[in-house]
This record gives sequence, C-alpha cells and structure tokens, in this order.
Amino acid sequence: MNNWKFCLKNVLTEIRGIKVKENSMCGIFGCILKTGTAAPIIHQALKRLEYRGYDSVGEATIHEGKLFIKKDSGKIDEVHKLHNLDDMPGSIGIGHTRWATHGAPLKENAHPHVDCGGQIAIVHNGVIENFSQIKLELENKGHTFQSKTDTEVIAHLIEEAFKKNSSLRLADAVLEAVKRLEGSYAIAVISTNEPDKIVCARNESPLILGLAEEGLYCASDIPAILPITRRIINVDDGELVILTAEEFEIRKIADLSIVTREIKIIDWTPEMAVKQGYPHFMLKEIREQAACLRNTLRLQEHYLDLMSTFLDRSKEVFLVACGTSYHACLAASYMFSKLAYLATYPVIASEFVEQHGKSVNIDSTVLAVSQSGETADTIAAVNAARLRAATILGLTNVIGSTLTRISRVYICQQSGPEIGVAATKTFTSQLSVLAQLALRLAKKRGKISQDEMDYIEAKLKKIPEVVDLVINTQEEKVRLLARKYRDAKLFFFLGRGISTATAYEGRLKLMEIAYVPALAFPAGESKHGPISLIEKGVPAIFICPKDDTRKAILGNIMEMKARGATIITLVEEGDNEIKSFADDYIELPKGIPDVLSPIPYVIPLQLFAYYMAVEKGYDPDKPRNLAKSVTVQ
Ligand code: G6P
Repeated sequence: MNNWKFCLKNVLTEIRGIKVKENSMCGIFGCILKTGTAAPIIHQALKRLEYRGYDSVGEATIHEGKLFIKKDSGKIDEVHKLHNLDDMPGSIGIGHTRWATHGAPLKENAHPHVDCGGQIAIVHNGVIENFSQIKLELENKGHTFQSKTDTEVIAHLIEEAFKKNSSLRLADAVLEAVKRLEGSYAIAVISTNEPDKIVCARNESPLILGLAEEGLYCASDIPAILPITRRIINVDDGELVILTAEEFEIRKIADLSIVTREIKIIDWTPEMAVKQGYPHFMLKEIREQAACLRNTLRLQEHYLDLMSTFLDRSKEVFLVACGTSYHACLAASYMFSKLAYLATYPVIASEFVEQHGKSVNIDSTVLAVSQSGETADTIAAVNAARLRAATILGLTNVIGSTLTRISRVYICQQSGPEIGVAATKTFTSQLSVLAQLALRLAKKRGKISQDEMDYIEAKLKKIPEVVDLVINTQEEKVRLLARKYRDAKLFFFLGRGISTATAYEGRLKLMEIAYVPALAFPAGESKHGPISLIEKGVPAIFICPKDDTRKAILGNIMEMKARGATIITLVEEGDNEIKSFADDYIELPKGIPDVLSPIPYVIPLQLFAYYMAVEKGYDPDKPRNLAKSVTVQ
C-alpha cells in the first residue's frame, strides 16, 4: 500500500460523442501545475461548472506548506467580487460550486471543508448516506465540526486515519476514509503534508481527469476541462486516483490493483459539453432521471419522520403547487390515501386562497411542493395559510429558497439544477419523495401490512433501473411515434386512478413545448362531455398500468375506439388484450405497484413531447411565453 507507483502507459484513442450518465449536483475541480498559479484556472473552471450548482463556491490552494481557503455563499461572480478568487498563491488547488443538499447555502457549509488541524482540504459532489453516524463517532473521538454538511466527515476521517498511523501516505488515508462511506461521492483532497498531490475517489458521482503539458486536472465534468485540454480520462466507480503535475495513477479501491485506461480526445464544442453531448437540456435531463431517483433514495430519515408526524396530527392536509409540481401533488393524494389511509386535498396554488383561505386553520397542514421554492402563487398560498396558523411543510429542489425559509419542516428533492423549462427529472424526483413520505406515514398509522410496505419499498429501490430500462428500450419507438403523429391537431391523454396525474403531466409537456392542443382528464369523465370532440383519427393516449383501474379503462378505450379515435396505449408488457385494441403502444415493465406507476409511465410521455417539439422544429428547452420559475402572481 505504501508503494504507490505512477504510470502513464495509456493508449491514445479518438472518441466522438461521449455521454456521461449522471445527475448534475455540485461541481468539483482540481488543478496541479508544473509552474504557475492554480487559483485563476480553478476559478474559470468553476464558472464553466456553474450549471451544476450555484448557491456557494470555494477554493483551496497550498503554497509553501500552508493551506489557503476562500469560500462563501452566493454565485461565483458575487463571491469573486467580495473575495477575489484569483488571488490565492500556489500551483495546486481544488474548487467547488455547490447545490445544497445537506445544510443551507451558508459560508460554513460551502466547500472546501477541512479537518480539525486545518491541513487537509476536500471538495465533494454526492451524498454520504451514513454521515450522521460517522459524525457522532468522530465527535466522540474529539473532532469538532464547522459545518452541517455530510462532506466534512470525510476530512475528519482522513485526519483520523493519520492519527492512527502517522506514516500513512495521503492516498492511503483517503482510501481508509472512503472505505467507510456509504452513498455517492466524487472527491478531491489536498494536504499540506503532501503538497504535490491531489487524491481523488469516485462512487456514483462523475469524475474525469484532464491531461495537459502544463499539469493535470480533475473535474466533475468535461466543460470544466475543455478549454484547457481535450485529452481526458474517465474515472470509474470504486476507483482512487493520485495526481501529480506530471503523472497520474488509478487504483481500484477494493483491491488496490492498478487500472490502465485509454485517453479520450474530446471534440465537443463548449455548448455540447455543457449538455454532455445531448442536443437539448431537456433530453439530458430526461436521461438523468435514474440517477436523480437514486439520490432521492438517500433522503435523511428524520425529515421524513418529522413531516409524517405533522401530517398524521393534522385534521386536513392540502397539497399545494403549480404546473408539474401540482401533478406530483395529485399523484401524491392517491399515494397518501392508498398507503396511509389519509385524505389529502391537492390544490392549484393560485386557487388556494379563494378555495380554502377562510377555512384553513391551526389544525390544517399545507404541504407545498415547488421545484424552485420561489413560485409566487405557491408562496402566496403558503403565506395565507401561515397567517391562519396552519403548519407549513415544503418539498423543494432549492435549499435556501423562500419555501425553505417559511416552512416548518422542508425536504430537498435533490435533483440538481434543471435547465430545460419543462420540468422532467424534478417531477419524478418529487414523486419518489412523496411516495417515501406516504410510506413513512403508513408505517406511523399502521394502515398497511409490513409485507406490503417491504414490497413497495423494494420496488421503489428498483425504480431507477426501471426508468433506465424504459428509456433504453422505448425511446426510439417513441421518437417514431412522434414522427407519425407530428401533424395531429388535438390529443387526448386519459388515465384512471393515479394515472390521471400521469395523463395531466403528459398533456402539459406536449402543450408547453410542442404547442399542440391537448385534453387530459380521468378517463371516466369522457362520457360526460369530452368524447363529443372525438372524430376519426383523433389520437387518444391511454395510460394503462395493470392496476385496479384496468378493466374500467379498457371500457373507455372501447368507447373511444368505437367513435373513431386512434388509440395509443402505455401498457404493461404482456398485456395483449389492451395491445390488441391499440393502433400503437409503448410497453412498460411488469410488476410496478400502482402507487409508483407514474414514475416510469411518465417517461414515454416526456419523450413524446420532446420528439414532437423536435419534429416540429421548436426548441424544447425554451418554450415560447414560459419561464422556468414564475415569480409573479
Ligand atoms: C412554471 C414552470 C413549470 C413548473 C411550474 C411550477 O410554470 O414552467 O415547469 O412546473 O412553474 O414551478 P415550481 O418551481 O413551483 O415547481
């Protein structure tokens, strides 16, 4: 272990169009130069990583055996204005741009984090699941913590390894530390004891190396490195890397075996690099959903517990949101009812005051769901409920947003920045969090059996794989469907039960980015009016998971078919009966519990809207007249 050897025996290959599968959340960068100052290079690289997160920023460098750190909350330009991020000595350093998941966006929570002795600095992208336990253990050993982050435990774990054995090399100490970690991480570590090295490690969070004449680099992502060098190396899960200014070595964490890896030459433009080779952010974000869902499975238990306690105590629960987040609330109302036997009322935020403003009271709870945490209608509804002493709970993607400030308890959906205006990955992440909340509440209320709970929990853990499977097997088929139906003037989206929410969301996606008029409603309502719009060839998309609604929806399909509609179904694999009535169908894997079905079933609808927009020549990332975050009422 003490015998680290450096090698650079890699074959040069030319690769076009690499796609990095991961979710954006925080960006890390490291730089080690033969000569020159690292800080301005780190600063510029962080600017190029800002799309991964932008609530705090920080850099650490080493010069003449001393560690220098500058960090603060705020966007990079704001922090640079205050602290001059370029003015730090040393040819080695690390940097971080943050999207908060543990701990608010405050200066003390900004990276880099250091050990008690102030000799080791670390930047991290990911979520350490077992950090509370490690933190407690280290506090009992006398370590003091400056931040509320999960990351800081890593710096102290490395310090602890040195305490036990002072002759360790930095790489050995990092290795000992990462072996304790559960969760996802890409880290870069520097230490004043070995000021000529950066040590990195990766599990589930992205990490690449950049190789140049002037020095070596590590980063979360290609855009950070692209203007410096086009020669990159991918680091894989379970690998540890040592960088000097001239060489690098990659080892497997499990058995320390040396890894040789080909150098790739990246020919992306900077714009392509930010989109990781995808033509649009929306497609990138659709494909990121499995990774985002994995993140949602790493929520802090005590927040779920606390929220479910408030929900359990309430006399009435309102689920308040706008747009896509409202559809997540609608789906959640089925989850709470089916799992926890709790009636909840999904309310469109702009209607809340008129509909419930007078009746909401101290015994009411408002669970507000907002990706941005800033939507004016949602905040106004929450404020009205607060004035009447209701309990406010929040689910958001942005820690530090208004919603987090006015909620009694909030939970972060941990999806990273979403750039496409049409919400995609944030919707499925919200659904996963809400399902976990419903399960937690079910446990508290003892309404469903342990077996059923275990079954759904196990299925939820598998949902990321299911989502990837749907994308990998159905995307091309959906693309061809979009081509086939490109000129349709009107679409129907129909579901029953929880699939009603999926239908509404599919309709919203199609309308907002492909500008096609569409109707969505619970399929049972067809006969009360909308069916009069059906004439030969109108496409009706039915969401048909094999749940208790299947028989009834089959009836609705027949009604529509009899009147000339073209039937497109999202159907469970092997459901030949429904398939036999469909003009076109998309197949979804078997065995998805009804309460989780909107997560995979919405994927083909997101892809359909995306490819419809592309077919029609629209930019799906920037739909006309719409904004990502609507801060006016
Ligand atoms: C806007 C966006 C939608 C989003 C809605 C609610 O209308 O275009 O995509 O669903 O706001 O946003 P929120 O941030 O509150 O979830």
